[in-house]
Amino acid sequence: MMTAAPRGSEPTTVNVALGDRAYDIVIGRGLLATLGQRVAALRPSARVVIVTEETVADLHLKAAEAAFAAAKVPAARAAVAPGEGSKSWKTFEQVCEAIIGAHIERNDLVVALGGGVIGDLAGFAAAVVRRGVDYVQVPTTLLAQVDSSVGGKTAINSSQGKNLVGLFHQPILVVADTALLDTLPPRDFRAGYAEVAKFGLLGDAGFFAWLEANWQDVFAGGGTSGSFAREHAIAIACRGKAGVVARDERETGERALLNLGHTFGHAFEAAAGFSEKLLHGEAVSIGIACAFEFSARMGLLPQSDAERAVRHLAAVGLPTDIRDVPAVKTDADALMELIAQDKKVKRGKLTFILARGIGQAFVANDVDPAQVRTFLAEKLARA
Ligand SMILES: NC(=O)c1ccc[n+]([C@@H]2O[C@H](COP(=O)([O-])OP(=O)(O)OC[C@H]3O[C@@H](n4cnc5c(N)ncnc54)[C@H](O)[C@@H]3O)[C@@H](O)[C@H]2O)c1
Ligand SMILES: [Zn+2]
Repeated sequence: MMTAAPRGSEPTTVNVALGDRAYDIVIGRGLLATLGQRVAALRPSARVVIVTEETVADLHLKAAEAAFAAAKVPAARAAVAPGEGSKSWKTFEQVCEAIIGAHIERNDLVVALGGGVIGDLAGFAAAVVRRGVDYVQVPTTLLAQVDSSVGGKTAINSSQGKNLVGLFHQPILVVADTALLDTLPPRDFRAGYAEVAKFGLLGDAGFFAWLEANWQDVFAGGGTSGSFAREHAIAIACRGKAGVVARDERETGERALLNLGHTFGHAFEAAAGFSEKLLHGEAVSIGIACAFEFSARMGLLPQSDAERAVRHLAAVGLPTDIRDVPAVKTDADALMELIAQDKKVKRGKLTFILARGIGQAFVANDVDPAQVRTFLAEKLARA
């Protein structure tokens, strides 16, 4: 699956092959400046409304507006508070009203400028305002560039759980400017990197080996080798996600593989109260470690492969054990309860994404909860 390296300053394009809803993900350093002309080329004479949040607006809204002005695309704006709290009914209503107030009509566009929170919120608003307008994703976090901006899942949170209200609405274009990540706090970059490593671990051993050798350049991002490495990592991860989404848009099968590390991870996130104590990507890193270690314990995978997966996540500074995060207190019974809440237990069995090797994840539908509990209890007890 490793493909030719992106050349020099030429952006990389990944197509999401969804028939008449197909779209491009364009990846490269400095692409924000081309946003207006790209949108104008795709949808001549459209107006746009940029939906963003205050942190991103302070850093990057001016440049986005300048890009639209340069291409003579009229651009209104709507900025909400940063953070997961904005994936709420209240903020959703505000965003819908702002889009309508900006006189966005059926042929116009919503532009989501921000991380996964803004992508999910603005995408959902675009899906329902005027019975649906098209939208463009301009992801500004690593997590959003490799994961949430691709695939068309949009949602807000219910008081009863995350992402429970939303629908599938594919964007018509994703513009991932890797330079926007230069302002991202290192902790957020690292958390997003867990999803990058996930793509290697679930289906692309060659990519994982490349990450082991080149992750420092991916983190550095600048200069010739850094720009290349970051763009390459994002492009390969996007290509992986685009392929899965094209084959299984509605997650009836293969798309579930993208949940590698997420069943365990969600339980840790819930144990942390979905708070700053543990970011999503950090929880996923611990979850991936669990999935590989559990697979090894079940005799599905050589112990050395599990160790290799964990070693890489730890090398970049991600937690790989919930005890790496002392602020989060939990035990095996509490985690099992959270796993059971998160996943429907079918005839007493759980579904997990497990692995037969690096790059060989599969959907295991018949996991015995008792074995998971024993695994977690022993892991948490180990000194
Ligand atoms: N739709 C999907 O398929 C999908 C997939 C994965 C995650 N998600 C959702 O994505 C959300 C998490 O996304 P996220 O991690 O991007 O969170 P986020 O959007 O909250 O961004 C993380 C932090 O980075 C800041 N930030 C964003 N861009 C920045 C930049 N360029 N410079 C400096 N700071 C910047 C934000 O203000 C925020 O504090 C969750 O709500 C999750 O449910 C959706
Ligand atoms: Zn995730």
